[in-house]
Amino acid sequence: MPLREIIIGRDEDDREKYGKRGSVYFGKHIVGEGEDANLTNPVYLDVARPHVSLLCGKRGQGKSYTGAVIAEEFFRLPEDIRQNLSMLMIDTMGIWWSLKNPNEKQIDLLKSWDLEPNTFDADVYVPRGFKEDYEKENIPFDETFSIKASELSVEDWSLAFDIPLTDKLGVLLERVMRSLNERENYGIREIIEAIREDERADKDVKEALENRFLSAKEWGIFSKEGLSIEDILSPGKVSVLDISYFGHMSSGWSVRGLLVGLLSRRIYRKRVEARRKEEMTTIRGRKEIDVPMTWVMIDEAHQFLPAEGKTPASDPLITLVKEGRQPGISVSFITQRPGAIHPNAISQADLIVSHRLTAKPDMDALRNIMQTYMTFDIQEYINDLPRKKGSAIVLDDNSERIYSIKVRPRMSWHAGGTPDAFEDEDEF
Ligand SMILES: Nc1ncnc2c1ncn2[C@@H]1O[C@H](COP(=O)(O)OP(=O)(O)OP(=O)(O)O)[C@@H](O)[C@H]1O
Ligand SMILES: [Mg+2]
Repeated sequence: MPLREIIIGRDEDDREKYGKRGSVYFGKHIVGEGEDANLTNPVYLDVARPHVSLLCGKRGQGKSYTGAVIAEEFFRLPEDIRQNLSMLMIDTMGIWWSLKNPNEKQIDLLKSWDLEPNTFDADVYVPRGFKEDYEKENIPFDETFSIKASELSVEDWSLAFDIPLTDKLGVLLERVMRSLNERENYGIREIIEAIREDERADKDVKEALENRFLSAKEWGIFSKEGLSIEDILSPGKVSVLDISYFGHMSSGWSVRGLLVGLLSRRIYRKRVEARRKEEMTTIRGRKEIDVPMTWVMIDEAHQFLPAEGKTPASDPLITLVKEGRQPGISVSFITQRPGAIHPNAISQADLIVSHRLTAKPDMDALRNIMQTYMTFDIQEYINDLPRKKGSAIVLDDNSERIYSIKVRPRMSWHAGGTPDAFEDEDEF
């Protein structure tokens, strides 16, 4: 009997109906343990249905690399399928622009996998306020992005500034935002004016809040036009939103949280709307798609959806995780610390790809989702993995199976790699 290909993320019904169609090349199955491990048949990943996935593993084991492999595969899909999908990569480290460069470094490794270096035309977005800095540093990008201050809610600001709404500053914030509510579109300048015009708050409270907004102005992300979500969700497009620049700032994670929260909300709204239209037109016999299904990939995801505390991205991400299936939104959370990410991100995940992990709290977080199809403790599966980068175990709820795999090498350059003093790479 011919070997059955593994298609992770695909249930038996879809397998029978579609075979491999709508799945992408992800890696190879590892058979055997540790040093005796062999790479056997190919492993595919379903991208035709919405998934919540968790890519985890300790530092330098291949999480961001694996994320980029999925992005590369989007470009290799047959055109008719690709046009029904889009991908947004939230890049906290500023590494995924390198999809545009070929992987010459692992050329021998690629050859052993019958692959070749290649480039992929992802659209890289950088914050509008820092365009010149990117140009100066010769970091390639395609577009800039900005958001409208008027799209953020009182709660967004209160979380971003870490001001409880019960606090004096919070009370003023709420009053100011309410006074601006009637306006369609306003910027930071108008918010500051409204703070100054407030007649009830003390001068020092007003100044303290004004200072917060003055510093928000320096985040370089606000403008009255804002980013068009339709552009990001264009059919077939892979967008990389580089938010690494905010790492220089003390309020870096707040800004990033605001951005991710806002985008997640808008994607959700847009797709719910689009899905309704798709269904209506399907009923009438001619399915129309203007905003395709989308896949949101988030590196360092525990920073946006932490187990403890809340960020402006927490609620919108939970909505995507819990309600994203119907409107066709996939989410991939990448994290070094599954123990530090909100438990919903793990419990709702139908696909978990775990590279090597050692820290106990992280192992325990995965252990909590112990599935009936797992015969042994998850630690045993992970211990049996060969000690090579890119090896991982996959827990797949769709096929109710667990697999050991080696993720395929990247065809495009990996910019986030571990630096070393050696000339060659030793991989299998
Ligand atoms: N599938 C793979 N095939 C070959 N090499 C790989 C693979 N995955 C990872 N590597 C190697 O491992 C290095 C580190 O991978 P990566 O940057 O993805 O780590 P990470 O898990 O994201 O780490 P961090 O938590 O620090 O962000 C890469 O530069 C690459 O050399
Ligand atoms: Mg990484």
